[in-house]
Amino acid sequence: MIWLSCVVLVGAQWGDEGKGKVTDFLAEKAAVVVRFQGGNNAGHTVVVGSEEFKLHLLPSGILYPGKSCVIGNGVVIDPPVLLKELTDLAGRLPNAGTLYISPRAHLILPYHRLLDRLEEERRAGAKKIGTTARGIGPAYTDKIRRTGIRVVDILDREEFAATLADILAEKNELLAKVYGVEPLDFNAIMEEYLAYGEKLRPYVADPGQLVTAALDQGQNVLFEGAQGTLLDIDHGTYPYVTSSNPTAAGACLGAGIGPTRIDRVIGVSKAYTTRVGSGPFPTELSDDMGEHLRHAGGEFGTTTGRPRRCGWLDTVALRYAVRVNGLHSLAVVKLDVLTGIPKLRIGVAYHYRNEVLTEFSASLKVLADCRVEYEEMPGWHEDITGVRDIGQLPANAKRYLERVTELTGVAVSLVGVGSSRAQTLLADPAIFA
Ligand code: IMP
Repeated sequence: MIWLSCVVLVGAQWGDEGKGKVTDFLAEKAAVVVRFQGGNNAGHTVVVGSEEFKLHLLPSGILYPGKSCVIGNGVVIDPPVLLKELTDLAGRLPNAGTLYISPRAHLILPYHRLLDRLEEERRAGAKKIGTTARGIGPAYTDKIRRTGIRVVDILDREEFAATLADILAEKNELLAKVYGVEPLDFNAIMEEYLAYGEKLRPYVADPGQLVTAALDQGQNVLFEGAQGTLLDIDHGTYPYVTSSNPTAAGACLGAGIGPTRIDRVIGVSKAYTTRVGSGPFPTELSDDMGEHLRHAGGEFGTTTGRPRRCGWLDTVALRYAVRVNGLHSLAVVKLDVLTGIPKLRIGVAYHYRNEVLTEFSASLKVLADCRVEYEEMPGWHEDITGVRDIGQLPANAKRYLERVTELTGVAVSLVGVGSSRAQTLLADPAIFA
């Protein structure tokens, strides 16, 4: 495989597309792997040999010895979660990659986790977002409000004490007066986070500098997106979204490099669609087929264990993902989950009132009430999990992938037929030339 030096990998749907597996596959060729947004709301499952690794904050590249793995400024870090992940990994994989953390990355504090839960409880019925309750939204809110605390801030006792005193006074007032809960203790948070600061200090480095130096030396850099395009705070199904930018442009902002450095953008999509949490999902299946996909695909959240909502592939949404990310190609994973389904369906347009919509709508009402127009395609029954060359796929599986390309306008560059590294097929090596 020939590589361009800087590749951004993003989720093309509502997250959980299996980016961890594709990242892990591509990471082999990269010297540096960078996470640029989100936090421990993400969950990547990567299978190495017979071992399964579940990562929430660490970039998937950490599983390779010798890689530099970067947590960029756009990520929100929950320090105890990150430290536990590092300790667990050290116990199982002594020669893991080297971690660097941006001093500008914002931190999740105890009041963020608490407020995430309290705010969600306060939202009535259908207004609930179904957050992961990890404090992600409140931490990003503070970042934008300019009341956040960054990694660099917990490296200095005096600075941290002064900042935390102001912020905690306000948070405690909010907790007591709006939510009627006990205030949080200043000294406890202060000492806890200073101790985290000391443990994180050896990893702190400027990711923009590191990535730029790697690119200047002709090394390969892989940006690993978390969540997905339709959960993007700007481009997703707002307000049923996460609070960061999982789209490709987020890689620049969240790591401190310019857009001119990026060579290629790849979107990961399942061969069907899933979503966790609330919000519209036009091709959702609430019948036996939805249940079949959930069980065949093991569609239960890595982070929360919640069952995922399942549906047919939606190429209206995928075309939108191609556009907002500037995708060069798609990695279509979990193709094996469709094996044995006699007739497959692909969503090709939405019908709303008397209109035919071929563009993904900004209106949640349209997305919730539209009728999806499907194309039907014959399925295949052969087991494809042992296929190692795209040319050996059954004719109907190849036809399915070709149709995805025709409907989205981009090539399928990678195909996943199972969870292990070997079950990732490179459709067209020239894609990386
Ligand atoms: P938050 O990111 O915890 O605030 O959750 C906001 C929305 O994004 C909810 O619908 C979550 O289920 C969804 N979400 C957040 N992270 C992920 C992820 O990694 N995969 C899929 N959905 C996610």
